[in-house]
Amino acid sequence: MIKQETVDKILDTARIEEVVGNFMELKKRGTSLIGLCPFHNEKTPSFNVSVNKGIYKCFGCGAGGDAVRFVMEHEKYSYPEALKYLAQKYHIEVVETERTPEQLAAQDKRESLFIVTNWAGKFFRETLWDTEEGRTIGLNYFKERGYREDIIQKFELGYSPEGWAALYDQAKIAGYKDEFLETTGLVIRRSADQEGAYDRFRGRVMFPIHNLTGRILGFGGRTLKTDKKTPKYVNSPESEVYHKSDVLYGLFFAKKAILDADHCYLVEGYADVLSMHQAGVENVVSSSGTSLTSGQIRLVSRYTKNVTILYDGDEAGIKASLRGTDMLLEEGLNVKVLLFPDGNDPDSYVQRFGSTAFKQYIAEHQQDFIFYKTHVLLRGAGNDPVKRAEIIHDVVESIALIPDAIKASVFVRECSTLLDIEERILIAELNKIRIGNARKSGRKPDTLPAQPTAIDPPAEAGVEDKNSGMSSDVLQEREIVRILLHYGSTAAAWEANSEIPIAPLLLSGLSDLSFDDPACLLVINVFKEYIARNELPDERVFVAHQDRRIADLAVDLLSSKYSLSPNWNDEKRKIYVPHESERLEDLVYGAIYRIKKRKVEQQMVRIREEMKTEKDETDMELMLANYQKLKDVSKIIAEKLGTIVIK
Ligand code: UTP
Ligand code: MN
Repeated sequence: MIKQETVDKILDTARIEEVVGNFMELKKRGTSLIGLCPFHNEKTPSFNVSVNKGIYKCFGCGAGGDAVRFVMEHEKYSYPEALKYLAQKYHIEVVETERTPEQLAAQDKRESLFIVTNWAGKFFRETLWDTEEGRTIGLNYFKERGYREDIIQKFELGYSPEGWAALYDQAKIAGYKDEFLETTGLVIRRSADQEGAYDRFRGRVMFPIHNLTGRILGFGGRTLKTDKKTPKYVNSPESEVYHKSDVLYGLFFAKKAILDADHCYLVEGYADVLSMHQAGVENVVSSSGTSLTSGQIRLVSRYTKNVTILYDGDEAGIKASLRGTDMLLEEGLNVKVLLFPDGNDPDSYVQRFGSTAFKQYIAEHQQDFIFYKTHVLLRGAGNDPVKRAEIIHDVVESIALIPDAIKASVFVRECSTLLDIEERILIAELNKIRIGNARKSGRKPDTLPAQPTAIDPPAEAGVEDKNSGMSSDVLQEREIVRILLHYGSTAAAWEANSEIPIAPLLLSGLSDLSFDDPACLLVINVFKEYIARNELPDERVFVAHQDRRIADLAVDLLSSKYSLSPNWNDEKRKIYVPHESERLEDLVYGAIYRIKKRKVEQQMVRIREEMKTEKDETDMELMLANYQKLKDVSKIIAEKLGTIVIK
């Protein structure tokens, strides 16, 4: 663990604009800096950096946090990794507390697993190049398939000898423990109670799988036999160092090319990656035969938002390309599809027709996924009206996943021509699906305007009230928390005791009230803990809080625009509206009374409901009395609220 003093020093020193500025371009706008959000795809900047508050916030996708969070999200670092990155950037010495034996063991174990897989990589490599068996069988195989030596070397390909324990025996001589050899899956234990183990990979050509820094995590081993009984590939199992769903084969070798081209090709197999590199197309990765996972998609989208899926041109390939793609759309990626003719895959196409023809083919045959899907589906439907309706729904369902409304409307327009159906109808269908999807995930739907003629960017307007999908209860609770975060330590100058800060004043005003939103409740409780000690927390306590719910809420609220309706400041109407900091008394009491009013009214509704079914007369009377009291309270509250400037 990194010592708290070091953590504090890092948080004190790290400047949000410098940290973020390292990874993206920021422009000054007013008091904050803005740029294109690195966490989702956008054309107009909605990513804000507040230098004063030390936080960033994207009003488009909602990402937000402090400098540490930015580094974690952007670089996919863990918390300690991000701290260490910042420490290095600012030349801060990292002092760590003693690690517990468990922590040391876990760290040591990962390291040991890495050491073993990397040793095995060398063993397979040396077997390929330096042994008779390796050269005549393995190397020959690669050469016959047309791979050049520089490519074989670059990808660190290898060969695992026939025989049961070639690797295992060498590993024992080199002193590697059974435990690590087994966990990495290089060897398989004969049986639980028996000593000894045998090699998982035997007589196969070996494809090492690298992490982003080029270390070997695991292997795929291809058989050289052609009988149907032998599985074509044997793969390393999952382990502490090899999480298959977060790994893309070839990314280590493709990173730079993907960034340069701002584009990535997704292929199915190891062979495709190799052949494309050899043809000079290096921005290519493979999901290794399985359908894409969201982890893999996020991995790609760190490097580019533009992907093209290359698949075999057979029926299975087509189906696979339809299925795996929705997730890509959802992540806001621009997805194209490319199919190869007559059962070719990228590998066989390059080997057969050469790299020039290959490059020309992929340049000319990429299709936008949505159009491709529409074409493929239409091809099978003929004039059957029921089938056509299904297709329309199917296509619109895909379009509905595209987060960018402008892009979605372009597709709607084009598909309306393709499907020969009015745009208006497609939009209605799309909005229906979006509302349904949003309901499922508890978000506010981004519907398209029903009038399709002008595709105006939904602009900042839609972005600003991103929160309004929440219930009014939650919004009110968030307003309280927002006031606490912004003005909690400001003195309540209007009070008789004008020294008292707003936080204790506000919270004592609400002491009889319970908060329902979990995140709000957490923040309020932090405030209460501090106040009980006669202290007040500063923003950083929340923004840098380890509990994601607290940090997210704080960032959200600290970066939210003031709740004052923006058109009140309308230049033309020349209405002067004071900034909310100039009317804190109204703000505080307004918030107190509004939330009380609501809770009281809710209680009244509950009582009315209960009275409907109550049969006991005494109870009924008690209820009525209670109801009357609440009604009085609500009247008082309403009067108080009436004296406060209505927002
Ligand atoms: P392919 O069968 O297309 O393999 O499977 P390939 O890479 O093109 O190999 P060649 O051209 O036949 O030599 C695509 C990917 O699916 C995974 C591998 O990652 C392979 O690269 N796979 C396939 C397996 O994991 N196990 C298998 O048995 C088959
Ligand atoms: Mn193949």
